Amino acid sequence: MSYHKDFCWLQKKKLKNHPFNNFIIKNATSLHETLKKEVAYFFEISLVEESEASLILEVKEESSIHPEGYKITAENKQVRIISSSDKGLLYGVYHLIRLFQKTKFVEEEILSEPENQTRMINHWDNFDGSVERGYAGKSIFFEKNSFRRDDENNELYARLLASIGINSLTINNVNVHKEESYFITDKYLNEIAHLASIFRKYNIKLFLSINFASPIEIGNMKTADPLNEEVQEFWNKVTKDIYDVIPDFGGFVVKADSENRPGPFTYGRTHADGANMLGRALKKHDGIVFWRCFVYNNHQDWRDRTTDRARAAYDHFYELDGEFNDNVILQIKNGPMDFQVREAVSPLFGALKETNQVLEFQITQEYTGQQKHIFYLVPQWKEVLDFDTWMKGKGSTVQKVLKEYPAKQKNNGITAVVNVGRDENWTGHKLAQANLFGYGRLIWDPSLSSDSILEEWMNGTFELSSNGKEILKSMMLNSWDTYEKYTSPLGIGWMVEPGHHYGPNIDGYEYSMWGTYHFSDSKGLGVDRTVATGTGYTRQYHDEVFEQYEDVATCPEELLLFFHHLPYNYQLKSGKTIIQHIYDTHFEGYEEVERYQVKWKSLKNEVDETTYLNVKERIKEQLQSAREWRDQINTYYYRKAGIQDKKGRTIYS
Ligand code: GCU
Repeated sequence: MSYHKDFCWLQKKKLKNHPFNNFIIKNATSLHETLKKEVAYFFEISLVEESEASLILEVKEESSIHPEGYKITAENKQVRIISSSDKGLLYGVYHLIRLFQKTKFVEEEILSEPENQTRMINHWDNFDGSVERGYAGKSIFFEKNSFRRDDENNELYARLLASIGINSLTINNVNVHKEESYFITDKYLNEIAHLASIFRKYNIKLFLSINFASPIEIGNMKTADPLNEEVQEFWNKVTKDIYDVIPDFGGFVVKADSENRPGPFTYGRTHADGANMLGRALKKHDGIVFWRCFVYNNHQDWRDRTTDRARAAYDHFYELDGEFNDNVILQIKNGPMDFQVREAVSPLFGALKETNQVLEFQITQEYTGQQKHIFYLVPQWKEVLDFDTWMKGKGSTVQKVLKEYPAKQKNNGITAVVNVGRDENWTGHKLAQANLFGYGRLIWDPSLSSDSILEEWMNGTFELSSNGKEILKSMMLNSWDTYEKYTSPLGIGWMVEPGHHYGPNIDGYEYSMWGTYHFSDSKGLGVDRTVATGTGYTRQYHDEVFEQYEDVATCPEELLLFFHHLPYNYQLKSGKTIIQHIYDTHFEGYEEVERYQVKWKSLKNEVDETTYLNVKERIKEQLQSAREWRDQINTYYYRKAGIQDKKGRTIYS
């Protein structure tokens, strides 16, 4: 194998001190081979027949444990992992590995069951080998319009995903181009089936992103109208062909009527018409449709201050609540804009009562430093899951809503755009591995803290001293704050280079059609989304949240300019004016990155050289980029407002 030797957090060398000398597997069937392989590989012990084996993996069908959950007990020198299905045993084995990666294995009973049923990864990989918004090299699956068939690497990847509890996967971009449209046909189904067979071994179901206009693009038809019977027949046949070769195929992910992708609007139909048509085709095979809600007008006129992109998902989908079939799941981005450093939580969470839903995060760092900047995303995701929608009074957090609405749903959960590619360490920036690891761990158990997830990842990945751990933690845990300080201020978002989205360009999107404006002038800045004087977006939330955001006095300050247009001399709770806050945070953010350099240098002898150099180089780039952000933002606002920095630091006028 030429690359990806680096097992990230699954390092065998760290498991030397376990007490096992053999193991036994009882009643497992579908994943028996995988369980045998994993335990033998990681613990270097053999499978035996005797029931007094020191490690026992057992399926007890009658047990009340969730099929993907597990119980670990330790008694009389025997450790047992029990579940009601093979799947739970697999996750239990990875839990055991994590326990031994800690310095001490504590004998305690552990019961762990997943909070979210769908725990998914979306690849935005293109068939030509490129990766949309990918920052870790080319696609692990594709090259020059063919399948790479790197089975060994794909299996390593499946193991990595299984070790953090992932059970669903798409391999191709939501923007489905011409050739990828044929993935659902005989032309490529054998290849897809082959990939499915690798991921199946690790309890991961394969899904495909599909092109809504397939009947036209690949079926030689004149229409893709979801209410046309022949179109329905086309999809019935497509799904039958897929399930003939992949009996446990997961289903489809669809980006329709979004950023110029085809969809039901062309035929005057609704999203429910489109999604249900696909749902019907998949239903008899037990398949599901993930229908994305990232739908907005991307041909907006910047002169028009009434249209607000933030409103779009809710405006399109709220009215359709209850109209979707039971195997259709709406896939909703965490925020109403697009994976910004800071934005509000999508008001669709807490609004949909009768519709299945998954939340979509972005692990790949499109707007968060593109795996050149350190940005530990888990704290941001936690804030989203803990956000109180007030759907049923206080305490109706997003995570609770996902679990409880609608009542009988089976597949609600979380998905995310992944950050891996062909780079040797999988994620480009070594420290970005923590985001993939953290994503899986968090969505399995959202009650875990950002700190403890980080600790688990470090235990599996490095051999750090306790001082070293504290240093790395201090860098990671404040990385969101640091990045936020030197980029766009107080929740306003964007201000990035159009197209590739790296580095500052304050007015880059200001006069564009994408609906992402900051409206800075000589007096102030920010987007007025209030009912009183703005776009009315605040009304999409339940009363308690609406009132909080509507009133500038109660609006959380980190989102102040997301919701309000305010003068530069508006005074924040800190006593500072907005303009002074902008200057201060931009100087502070840059200085924090300077400290990263010193901190990382102090870890030189605690990490391997490849990692050391990988991170060192990237911090250098981060510092350079932070400097650019700092100076462009400070200068821009100094020129607009004409107000001096109270501390007299250098602002290039
Ligand atoms: C963002 C991203 C696109 C992507 C889109 C999506 O706009 O920049 O590359 O296609 O999100 O989520 O569909």
